[in-house]
Amino acid sequence: MPRRLCQKQNRKMRASLLPAARVLVKTYPLMSSSSATPLSSGTAGPLRGECRVPGDKSISHRALIFGALAVGRTRVSGLLEGEDVLCTAEALRALGATLTRGSDGVWTVSGVGVGGLQEPGGMLDMGNSGTGARLLMGAVAGHNITAFFTGDASLCKRPMARVTEPLSRMGARVVARQGGRLPLALTGAADPLPITYESPVASAQVKSAILLAGLSAPGQTTVIEPLHSRDHTENLLRHFGATVTSEATETGGRRITVTGQPELIAADLIVPGDPSSAAFPAVAALLLPGSAIEIAGVGINPLRAGLFETLTEMGAAIEFKNTRIEGGETVADLSIKSGPLKGVTVPAERAPSMIDEYPILAVAAAFAEGKTVMHGLSELRVKESDRLAAIATGLEACGAKVTIEGDTLIVEGTGARPKGGAKVAALLDHRIAMSFLVLGMAAERPVTIDDGATIATSFPDFVPLMNRLGGAITEAAL
Ligand code: S3P
Repeated sequence: MPRRLCQKQNRKMRASLLPAARVLVKTYPLMSSSSATPLSSGTAGPLRGECRVPGDKSISHRALIFGALAVGRTRVSGLLEGEDVLCTAEALRALGATLTRGSDGVWTVSGVGVGGLQEPGGMLDMGNSGTGARLLMGAVAGHNITAFFTGDASLCKRPMARVTEPLSRMGARVVARQGGRLPLALTGAADPLPITYESPVASAQVKSAILLAGLSAPGQTTVIEPLHSRDHTENLLRHFGATVTSEATETGGRRITVTGQPELIAADLIVPGDPSSAAFPAVAALLLPGSAIEIAGVGINPLRAGLFETLTEMGAAIEFKNTRIEGGETVADLSIKSGPLKGVTVPAERAPSMIDEYPILAVAAAFAEGKTVMHGLSELRVKESDRLAAIATGLEACGAKVTIEGDTLIVEGTGARPKGGAKVAALLDHRIAMSFLVLGMAAERPVTIDDGATIATSFPDFVPLMNRLGGAITEAAL
């Protein structure tokens, strides 16, 4: 299916990378895997030492996209070189921007300016990435060009109407498969209309797509979201010189407005470590007795830090050291020590700030003493997999007690290690794959996942990094 297309592109891109990057690719064999890569994790010793996780995925996509829409050359340090972001880079090249990677790992984006994207000659294959697909649809919607979007089997199942519907109101025309799914064709508006859009979901992808299209519209484009979702688009728009306002609504939501037709000016930036990736070594260290690790340079934007807040409420020993501002984002070094956890209730309002972290939180909850009740999780049904179902199926197979009631997930921990010993389907979902590998490191018996290839979308060096800290993850036969 289309995933192969993107992998072909990625192989081509990797082949063109500079020597330093080739070493990097060699160290991370999962990146080039085109077939299933079953992995097993067994009882690991305590985790010890220091590490750095790769650059934030959300910020990496946006750094390249805004760089491509700016005038001048933007240098991006710390970019995540995962498959998702490489697909966005390739799509931006097809749209006319120039992106290069220096031997020091710094990427340079030579932008075409707002309104300057060109019509791509072929399909834009966004691989596994909802963020890449939806944000680029927003950017294309403000240009009078036609682009065809596709992705892998997971992305082709995900709902796109949540962005194509508001983009159509702005003047874009879309032909999609049933349910607004990829592959789809999008013709941007010659004269995009500014709109005020009340989003039914708290989704940074929806918000960002509309704001990106709004860059090409005259006047003000406004998105009202029911809860405040991650604000990297707002921060980066300001960083590149656009005028953006953001104010709380009376009902706990947010009203964000961008003034259209700005000239975005190239502006260098540093991408912080991804808190969503830091979550995996952090939880593994909490669960493995005697562990003590440090994770340097992790982004702790409050709209992304819900997991750390929840784990702290569960009794976790997480210390934030050297808190500082880097590239406009709050960053800290995390120090984590193992210890017992207790069940807690996680309110629905916290969901947007930890939406990608529920699989690993559910794993932590299976080791905790007492019930962990997680409310407001309907959005988990439309991620890279149906994560609500994937978490429940995987945890049950590993001997944990789980219930789903509507959009609430309940995990009943006993304080003892779950049995493990299961084979878990990763469903083309990197976060399901990594979560169950962490579970296998701390459970009574090893856990096998059927395919870890998608881990390369967000955390290409996950396996070597975890093993360096003391983990026990190996390739497996199914
Ligand atoms: C993202 C937003 C979230 C998150 C995704 C990345 C982003 O999706 O799940 O992994 O970069 O904007 P939604 O905004 O659709 O909730």
